[in-house]
Amino acid sequence: MEDKKTIFSGVQPSGALTIGNYLGAIKNWVQLQEEYDCYYCVVDMHAITVPQEPKDLRKNTLEILALYLACGLDPEKNTLFIQSHVSAHAELGWVLNTMTYMGQLNRMTQYKEKSQKSEQNLNAGLFTYPVLMAADILLYDADVVPVGEDQKQHLELARDLAERFNNRYSETFTVPEPFISEFGAKIMSLQEPGKKMSKSDEDPNAYILLLDDEATIKRKIKRAVTDSLGVVKYSDEQPGIKNLLTIYSKFTGEKIEEIERKYDGKGYGDFKEDLACIVADGLKPIREKVNYYMSNKSELEAIYAEGARKAERKAAKMLRKVYKKIGFIPKSF
Ligand code: TYM
Repeated sequence: MEDKKTIFSGVQPSGALTIGNYLGAIKNWVQLQEEYDCYYCVVDMHAITVPQEPKDLRKNTLEILALYLACGLDPEKNTLFIQSHVSAHAELGWVLNTMTYMGQLNRMTQYKEKSQKSEQNLNAGLFTYPVLMAADILLYDADVVPVGEDQKQHLELARDLAERFNNRYSETFTVPEPFISEFGAKIMSLQEPGKKMSKSDEDPNAYILLLDDEATIKRKIKRAVTDSLGVVKYSDEQPGIKNLLTIYSKFTGEKIEEIERKYDGKGYGDFKEDLACIVADGLKPIREKVNYYMSNKSELEAIYAEGARKAERKAAKMLRKVYKKIGFIPKSF
């Protein structure tokens, strides 16, 4: 038990999740829960870097936890918790802020993109967000961080900060490795397949939400952009079809070549119709379980309370070690 490696990852409760979040991240977590000591967090402190309506934030936070459970994360095997319940995240975040170069944060592509979109709220939190993410990871001595492709650059910062701290103050943090699956780590928009599928896209036809109903899923897949070649083939010249094939394969576990063979000589209509059923059937049990938990909030409360207790113990120990190394006087009360 003791020599299990540690995993940390999280999702922001900044709105409904897409199948990109599911296929790129959460679905992989479920496979890792047997082998690793896993900490999966709902990162509400990250979410407030863009304006959030308090009542929506509360609902979204619980909904993400419900989704973790509905997707198959077992609360007995994993530590499932809410970031703001463990104050060490903010505290280590501050220490790491003082060790992060402005230039590093200026280069973050996600910051550049987000700041272009929401110029009216260019707050300092949006800028230093990757530092808080590094604190999340380093607090738990995480060896592995399973994320989608878009988080790679943030993870490099976490690695860099761990090394910088260790060099300056002696060995303290584990340098985390990203775990990005080779396939499906970037699910693309259904409308502009050159762009990542994102819940903040202005066009709702660009994404499928985990909680979309069957009719909506079918409609969105039917409208997904394809091409005029008319062959179901996994090729860079057909980015729309390539993305749909990725989704198909991720949901069914079938190999790309098998799927291509199955639709050899058939048109996009048949392929899309089957895919729509596959996605709708795949998401139905998840939606039902989320609805169950959202109407049984006391079960969620018991899970996040226990998760925070476990996370707090580990995080407080690391924070004490860090404070001591940097020269803060230990508390004597
Ligand atoms: P977030 O909330 O934007 O996304 C959650 C996870 O979903 C992945 N993802 C995708 N994967 C494939 N295709 C897509 N289209 C797609 N869209 C999103 C993300 O890569 C991510 O793994 N900063 C993080 C949250 C975070 C975190 C952490 C993650 C905070 N602290 C510590 C790991 C470790 C974020 O905004 O993810």
